[in-house]
Amino acid sequence: MRFSILAAVLFLSLQQTPAIANNPSPTLDLMPVPARIEIGSGVFVVDEGFTVSIAGEGASPRLHRGIHRMLRRLSDRSTIFFANEVFLDIGDRDAAAMTVTAARIGELKVGEDESYRLQITNSGITLEAATDIGALRGLQTLLQLLRLDERGVTLPVITVDDEPRFPWRGLMIDSSRHFMPVDMIKRNLDGMAAVKLNVLHWHLVDDQGFRVESLALPKLHELASDGNYYTQIQIREIQDYAADRGIRVVPEFDLPGHGTAWLTAYPELASAPGPYEIERSWGIFDPTINPIIEETYTFLDTFFAEMAELFDDEFMHIGGDENNGKHWLANAEIVAFMEENGYNEPLELQRYFNERVLEIFSKYGKRMVGWDEIFVDGLTKSIVIQSWRGRESLFEAAKLGYPGILSNGYYIDLIQPTDFHYLNDPLPEDSDLTPEEAARVLGGEATMWAEYVSPETVDSRIWPRTAAIAERFWSPGSVRDLEDMYRRLDRISLMLEEVGLQHERNRATMLRRLCQCRDIAGLEVLLGAIEPVKVYNRGRLRKHTQFSPLTRMVDAAWPDAVPARQFRWTVERMLDNGFEDQADIEAAMTALQTWEDNHAQIESLLRSSPGLTEIAPLSENLRDVATIGLAALGHARSGGTMGSAAFEASLATLERTAESHGQTELAILAPVKQLVCTVAGPAGESAAGCQPEEDAPASGEH
Ligand code: ACM
Repeated sequence: MRFSILAAVLFLSLQQTPAIANNPSPTLDLMPVPARIEIGSGVFVVDEGFTVSIAGEGASPRLHRGIHRMLRRLSDRSTIFFANEVFLDIGDRDAAAMTVTAARIGELKVGEDESYRLQITNSGITLEAATDIGALRGLQTLLQLLRLDERGVTLPVITVDDEPRFPWRGLMIDSSRHFMPVDMIKRNLDGMAAVKLNVLHWHLVDDQGFRVESLALPKLHELASDGNYYTQIQIREIQDYAADRGIRVVPEFDLPGHGTAWLTAYPELASAPGPYEIERSWGIFDPTINPIIEETYTFLDTFFAEMAELFDDEFMHIGGDENNGKHWLANAEIVAFMEENGYNEPLELQRYFNERVLEIFSKYGKRMVGWDEIFVDGLTKSIVIQSWRGRESLFEAAKLGYPGILSNGYYIDLIQPTDFHYLNDPLPEDSDLTPEEAARVLGGEATMWAEYVSPETVDSRIWPRTAAIAERFWSPGSVRDLEDMYRRLDRISLMLEEVGLQHERNRATMLRRLCQCRDIAGLEVLLGAIEPVKVYNRGRLRKHTQFSPLTRMVDAAWPDAVPARQFRWTVERMLDNGFEDQADIEAAMTALQTWEDNHAQIESLLRSSPGLTEIAPLSENLRDVATIGLAALGHARSGGTMGSAAFEASLATLERTAESHGQTELAILAPVKQLVCTVAGPAGESAAGCQPEEDAPASGEH
C-alpha cells in the first residue's frame, strides 16, 4: 500500500484542514462517492443572488424543508447573506440559479427510488429525481461539492448521475444500555442524511432498560427505565424528523432472551421465578420470556398492536439474539413441552416462539427483522435476517430465499479502524451468489452498542467512521481506495460537525474536565498516539456497569487516532521506498520528537489529576517508544544498522509498552517496531519479535 498525503504540519493539529483548492482527486470531497461523475472545467459561483425553483409532482413539503435546510447550511458555511431571504421556491424557473424537479413523492419503503441527477454548469444548477427522497440525496451531494477558496464560494462544473448500490443502509443505535436523549437521535439522523443512510434501527429494549412508553402496558416503562424512556409523542417526533430526511425508523424489541427489562415489569411472563431488576452490568444474561404459556402471547399481542400503530415502518425487529436457553432448560414444564414437541434444543423452541410472534406481526401488517439466530429454513420468506455473527448466515439465507442485511464487520462499538469496516463488503465480488440470490442482500447496518458510550461520547464512536460504512453501502463496490477514503473522511468529518454532531468538539470539553485546566495541548498530543483497547477487551480489563463514569481518557480517545495513523502511513511509505523521501523522514522525526517531549510537559498534570493518573504510565511509555523510533530513524538516515544489544533492548521495551493502561493502548507500536526490525539488519529479519501478529477473531456479547 502506498500513501502519498502526509506532512508534519498535519500532525501538529488534531483538526486538519488540508487545502481543498484545485483538489486533484476525481472523487472530490464526496462521501459516498456517486455511481457516476463527469467533471467539467470551470465553476458555478454562489453569490447573494442565489435562488431555487422547485417543480414536479414530488415538490413536497418535505422537499421544500430539505431545500430550506440546504440553503441554511450553504449560508452558514459560506457566510453569504442571501438576498432572497425567505428560503422558498421562487417560481420563475428561468430566473432561478438552481432548479429542482422531483417527479413524485417517495415512499419510505425498502427499494424506493433514491436516484438523482445533478448538473452544475457555470451558469446554473439542475437537480432532477424520480422522487423527493432522491432529490434530498442530491442536495447532500451539492453541499459536499461546495468549495471555499480564493475564487470565493463555488461549485465545480460537474454532472452527477447517482443511485445507491443497496436499498437498506442503516445505523443501529442502542438506547437501552445508556439512554440516548431525543437530541442525540436527531443530530445523528442529520448525520445519517448527510451521508445518505436511510434506516435508523432503534434498539429500544434490552436487559438494561425499556425505553418506549407503552400506554397499554405501562409497567414496562414505569418499572424498567429509571424514568429514561421516549414518550409516544417523542417517538412520533423522531419518526417525523427521520421521514423528513428520507430515513425509515425500524424499532427493535429484543425477545425472548435479553429479557430482564420485560420481566422486571411483568415477572409472571418469566421462565424462572423472579423477582427481576433492571440489569446494570454488561454481558449475556439468563432472564428469558416463557414461550409455553398463552399469557405471553396475549401480552405480546397487546404490546405489538400498540407498537404497530406507533411505528410507521413496515418492519419491526424482534432481536432474537443470544438466548442462552438456561432458564428454559431449568424449567420442568418447559422441558416437558420441548419433549412433547420433539424439540431437542432451545433454538428449536425459539423457532416455535418466533412463529407465534410472526403470527402477531402479520395480524398487524408488519414484517419481521431478527438477528441471525432467528434464521431457520421454513419461516416465511418475508422476514429479514440481520447477520451479526458472520456473512455466511446472510448468504445461506439468501440462497434459501430470505432477504438479509449485514452487520458483522460493522460493529463500531469495537473501536476498530475505519478501513477494517470500509473494506468489509456485504456482497464481495467473489461471492458465489446468483444474481437473484445477490438481490436478496439488501445492504447493511453499522451497530452502535451502548455499553461504553454516553450521549457525550457516542458521536465520536459513530462518526466519522460510519460515513465510510455509508459509502460501502451506497457506492459501487469498486470504490475501495483507502488513501482517498481517509482524505475525504477528514473533510466529511467537518461537514458532520456542521449538522450538529459532537464527535470532534466534545473531546476538548472532556479533557478540560479531566484536568480542570485550560491548557490541554499536551493531553491532545497524547490522545493522538493512543487508542481505546479494541473488540471486547474494555470490559474484560475492568468491570463497568451502567453507573460507571464514561469521562475518562479512554472515552476521550478516538478509535482510529489520526496522527497515529498518519505516522503509520509515513513509516510504510519509508519502508517501501527505502527511506528515500526526506520529507517523510522529517515528518516522522517531528512526530516522534513531539511524542518524546510530551511526557515531561504533562507529567505534573497527570500526577495531580486523579482522573489522569491511570494514564501516566502510557504517557511515559509513549516517550520511551518515541525515543526508540528516533534512534531507529537515525540509523535509517545514516544507512547504519542497530547493534544487537540496542535491538534486543528496543524489542523488550516495545513488548513492555504493549500493555494497556486505563483500557487505553499506544497506537504507534507497530510502525516503530517495523522501523526497529528494519534497521536491525539480518537480526531483525529473523527475530521472533519481528514477525507479524495475527488478530484474534472477535466474538460477541450484546
Ligand atoms: C448482538 O450483537 N447480540 C446482536
